[in-house]
Order: sequence, then structure tokens, then C-alpha cells
Amino acid sequence: MSQSHSPQSTDGAAPAFDAFAAKDALNGVGIMKDPYPRLAELRAECPVHQGSVSAKFGMPGADRIIAAEDEQAAVYTYKGVDAVLRDAATFSSSWYHISLGEVIGRTILEMDPPEHRRFRSLISPAFTRREMDRWEREFVRGIVDSYIDRFAAAGRADLGADFAFHYPIHVIAVAAGLPVDDLPAFYTHTALLTNVAVSQEERLAASRDLGAMVQQLIEARRKDPSDDLIGVLVRARLDDADWDGASDRHLTDEEIISFLRLLVPAGAQTTYRAITTVLYGLLSHPEQLAAVRADPGLIPQAIEEGLRWEVPLLSAGRTAVRDTVVEGCPVRAGQHLNTPIGAANHDPARWDRPDDFDIFRTPQPHLGFGVGPHVCLGIHAARMEMRVALEQLLVRLPGLRLDPDVPTDGVTGLGLRTAVHLPVVFDTL
Ligand code: HEM
Repeated sequence: MSQSHSPQSTDGAAPAFDAFAAKDALNGVGIMKDPYPRLAELRAECPVHQGSVSAKFGMPGADRIIAAEDEQAAVYTYKGVDAVLRDAATFSSSWYHISLGEVIGRTILEMDPPEHRRFRSLISPAFTRREMDRWEREFVRGIVDSYIDRFAAAGRADLGADFAFHYPIHVIAVAAGLPVDDLPAFYTHTALLTNVAVSQEERLAASRDLGAMVQQLIEARRKDPSDDLIGVLVRARLDDADWDGASDRHLTDEEIISFLRLLVPAGAQTTYRAITTVLYGLLSHPEQLAAVRADPGLIPQAIEEGLRWEVPLLSAGRTAVRDTVVEGCPVRAGQHLNTPIGAANHDPARWDRPDDFDIFRTPQPHLGFGVGPHVCLGIHAARMEMRVALEQLLVRLPGLRLDPDVPTDGVTGLGLRTAVHLPVVFDTL
């Protein structure tokens, strides 16, 4: 099955070059079926290995582009990844400046304490549970339904390409207050923004175009205040006085634009991938799908198991600021440390049968949303968006099951894990 993701349903036309699929291919999507046996082998040999994760698989990958092999290492145990992500004093997030800074701008993702704490506390009020209740009520359920409406009468669909690919980016656009007419252009820019499969010029052009779109919204919100994401960020005040001598101030336009750019890879593309993997987990385990259908109260635990079982982004990253030790292994100052969350979430020291999808396993925290000061800021948004998607799909598509006539690769990828295609059939009402 082809790995094309062309966003036909937003503007009716497939882009000439399927940039998103090219990015996926570079991250092993459609190529690497099951990385877990090799990750288990590496973990069993030693908790920390020199070199990138991708090189251990003989695959290309963003980690191989960003730092030389002898300047990086990777931690393969739950305990090790957990310890690195919690310790922002020893492990800096500045590495993200190299990988994302130029196209996205400076954001909380690449900041260290105390700067990180200040900016994060300013932005967090836009992502509380209460705010997410409002998103759900005002637009998320409607967006989900609008995509289901397109195929509900057909009795079959591809829940990857026809549904999951479009929905979270649409949510971010509406949350930001973007006019619906601008959605196709927004999609095009977001497919190119952090895409290492296209040239740096194309990435920077997408970054500028996206910036110009957000700039217009900022100007409108300064004149006419609103409660959407940009309205909240425009009103937020940063008290800089006790850390760089500057006085109390608003976020600059560039700071708001950079944060909105960050939401594309951090908020939309992760949620797209996560929806496909939890759906694939359920569809490929019909007895668990039947249990969730019979009791929708099981949806939250299905989502957590989906995020443990298959993380959308295999690895986070940090840079050691001093010589240190991780899981008994020396790490040099300046060394880049990959923290493959996917390996941590399959550590048999923490989970029985770690490679099995089992929504009934005893719940315990996983690292799908990271941990420590940089733990996912959009955790409530992601959980809500995934829950609403499952609720509406199960209610509106009775008898939902994998299409027996269309084979699917299931979840694939190394750097990024996704079920690009989810061919399903269902009963029509
Ligand atoms: C299932 C979907 C999602 C997953 C698996 C996920 C995962 C993650 C992970 C692992 C991190 C930590 C990165 C690190 O420590 O280096 C992170 C950070 C972040 N996420 Fe998410 N995320 C998801 C959805 C979202 C959504 C929906 C939003 C916003 C709408 C969002 C916004 C952010 C932001 C802003 C950060 C940076 C936080 C910081 O640096 O303090 N994420 N996410």
C-alpha cells in the first residue's frame, strides 16, 4: 500500500509533491515494521550506547543529520530515559535549537530553567482541562463529525488518510482562530515546516508564510480581543524583572508566532500519529475493540495503552551540560543524548509482555508524553482529541472493523511511528 498522505479533503487537490510522505519515509514510515526486537537487544546489551538510534538500525533519520555519531549516545531503559528527562539541570534542551530553532524560532521546547518555567507558566493557562472542555464543546466534536460525514454513508474508509491525518491540524487552526478559507494554505505550510525531506529554503519559506498568517491574526486580536489561543497569548504578560533586568512586558509577536509554529509538529502531527496507532491497536484486537464499544468508559485506558505501546515520536533529545553518569555509563559534557521513549515504554523491567497491546494491563505511568519540566504541555488537548475521535467513530460507524480485502502495513516507522493507512468497513445506518 502506498504511503501517500495527500490532504485531498481540505482543498480537493493533491499537492504535486507529497512532502509529508517524503518526511515519513526519511523516518522509516512504511519501511521499518517492528523496531522493538532490535531495541530490546540493544537494551539487554547495555542501557546506554554510543551513536544515534537510526545508525543502530542502518536507517536514515533526523538524529543522524543533527549530530555526528561520535558526538551522540542513546539511553534504552525506562529508568535511564526517565532520569534524563527529569534532570533539566544536567541535561539541556538547547539541542532543539539545532534541530528546530531556525524554522520554528525560539520556543519553550529549547529553553532551560529558569527561562523555561517563566514562559511555560505564561502559556499553560491556554491548555488547562477547563479550556479543553471549551474546545471540545465549541469546535472539536464538530470538526470530528465533519470528517466522519464525508464517508459515513459509504460503508468503508481509510481512517488514516481520510480522518486522522486532517483532524488535529484542523483543530489547531480553529483553536488559533484561523479563518476556514486559509486552511488549505495552512496545511501546505505545515507539511513543509519541519520537513527534513525538503530543502532548507522550502522550510524557511513555509516558516515565513506561516508567520505572516499568524501575524495578521495577532494584529486583529490586538485591536479586537478574543478568547482563542492567539487572543490569550496576546494578553499574557511576562514578568521579566528578576531574571534579565527587563520590565514586565507582553509576549512579542515573534514569540507568539514561534509558539504557534511549534504547535504544528508538537501538537498536530503527534496527535495524528497517536490516533492512528490507538485505532490500529483496537482494530487489530477485535475483542478489545468490542469491550471498548460495549463500555466507552474504557476509552481513556485504551488511549494510555496506545501511547505506551506505540509513541508517535520515538525519541526526545537532550545535551549533557557536564560530565555525568546515566545508568552507570559515563556521558561527556556536550554530548547529545537521545532518549528513545519507544524503547523505554517497552522495557520489560517495567512492563510484562511489553510488546503486546493490552488495554487491561495494570495502569502505571508511561513516557509517551515525556516527563519532568518539559512534559507535554498539550497533554489534556491530546487526550481530549483522541477520546472525542474514538467516541464519535464508535458511535457513528457501527460494526467498525479492518477491511478484510485491503491489506494494511499497520504501524510502521523508526523516528516516527504511524499507521498511515487504516482501511476499515462498517455497517451503514
Ligand atoms: C498524542 C499526542 C502527543 C504526544 C504523544 C506528545 C508528546 C510530547 C512529548 C514527548 C513532549 C516532550 C518533549 C521533550 O521532553 O523533549 C511534548 C512536549 C510538548 N507538547 Fe506534546 N504531545 C502530544 C500532543 C500535543 C498537543 C495536542 C499539544 C498542543 C496543542 C502539544 C504541545 C506540546 C508542547 C508545547 C510541548 C513543549 C513543552 C515544553 O517544552 O515545556 N503536544 N509533547
